[in-house]
Amino acid sequence: MPFYHKVGELPQVKHTTFYKPDGKSLYREELVSSKGFSGVYSNKYHLHMPTAVLGVDEIPLYKEVDWHDAPVTYYHFFTDKKKEGGNFITARDVYLHNASCSIATATVTEPTDDFYRNGYAAEYIFVHHGTGRLLSDYGVINFVPGDQLIIPRAVIYRMEFDTYDNNKLLIVESDTAFEIPAHFRNDYGQMLEHAPYCERDFKLPEYITPTDETGEFRLIVKTGKRYFVHLLKYHPFDVVGWDGFLYPYAFNIDDYHPKVGRIHLPPPIHLAFVTQSFVLCNFVPRPYDFHEQAIPAPYFHANIDSDEVLYYVKGEFMSRKGIREGSITLHPGAMPHGPQPGRTEASVGAKETNEYAVMIDTFAPLTPTLNVKETMDPEYVRSWLE
Ligand SMILES: [Fe+2]
Repeated sequence: MPFYHKVGELPQVKHTTFYKPDGKSLYREELVSSKGFSGVYSNKYHLHMPTAVLGVDEIPLYKEVDWHDAPVTYYHFFTDKKKEGGNFITARDVYLHNASCSIATATVTEPTDDFYRNGYAAEYIFVHHGTGRLLSDYGVINFVPGDQLIIPRAVIYRMEFDTYDNNKLLIVESDTAFEIPAHFRNDYGQMLEHAPYCERDFKLPEYITPTDETGEFRLIVKTGKRYFVHLLKYHPFDVVGWDGFLYPYAFNIDDYHPKVGRIHLPPPIHLAFVTQSFVLCNFVPRPYDFHEQAIPAPYFHANIDSDEVLYYVKGEFMSRKGIREGSITLHPGAMPHGPQPGRTEASVGAKETNEYAVMIDTFAPLTPTLNVKETMDPEYVRSWLE
């Protein structure tokens, strides 16, 4: 997480009496910690016990079917073709996954009163289209297109959109935390001068008045491919204050400061976040390489230890043709890839690019679901033929 943050009311000393205004009843302290008690953590103070659960039921929300005999090939598929919709929980369509991560998109068409907790994974949510609020027990983050919401495992949240006619999300789950790369930070955790973003670029949760309500509140808990409804006795956003390093935050792709070289620089120069099992990069508008004979389009390459996924956001992507907003390409690690015919030559002498894309390079192979089969461009594999 970025750095220490504090919201609302707190006792001066941890683990000491912290009374409500009546002077008799205690607020309930909850420590949320990672890596046992050795990682980042936060202390929250609730109006009520966060453990008051009226009942638990499993619900069959997981809808994806793996494409078991999917070929090892070059993939291009159009996520905008999936438009069944749903709320911010049910609208998710998973396209690719392995044991450590999954990659989904969601066209959110309806609101819900449900709350959501991913019990097994941290989440990265890229807001492609839509504006609204990420509400959590840490506060509120107002989001706009381009925002990348980083939500640690176990955070209870709800996404509310301003309208429900044009909302599109890219959602990446990770079984380990999304981290700011270590080489972006100094020994004290401060962002270094040459990092592509800094503390001022983060949107942090802002205080919301705690909700003191008793009733039956549906919390949807996801654990891998299983979903449960935990019926809570108290409204989960009942936190009067919290502090620490573990909390959701946002970083807009437009605030990524790209680096440019004299000759082509490889994808690690576009790094945004890392996990234990993949890296995530931001491609943003930038001037091209400035050597007189530079070829800005990438050379053909085989990244043999990674499956490479690109989600195309907007702009003209220099090395690809037939790509649209919401397209995803998957180039499995075994296979070389590069610009399509004519694209290398066309890039020579070009001065700048207006592309926006998010790249996910996984360290283990990805399995496609039938959503890939349903939305793919079958001609993509032959798109390098001259
Ligand atoms: Fe690549």
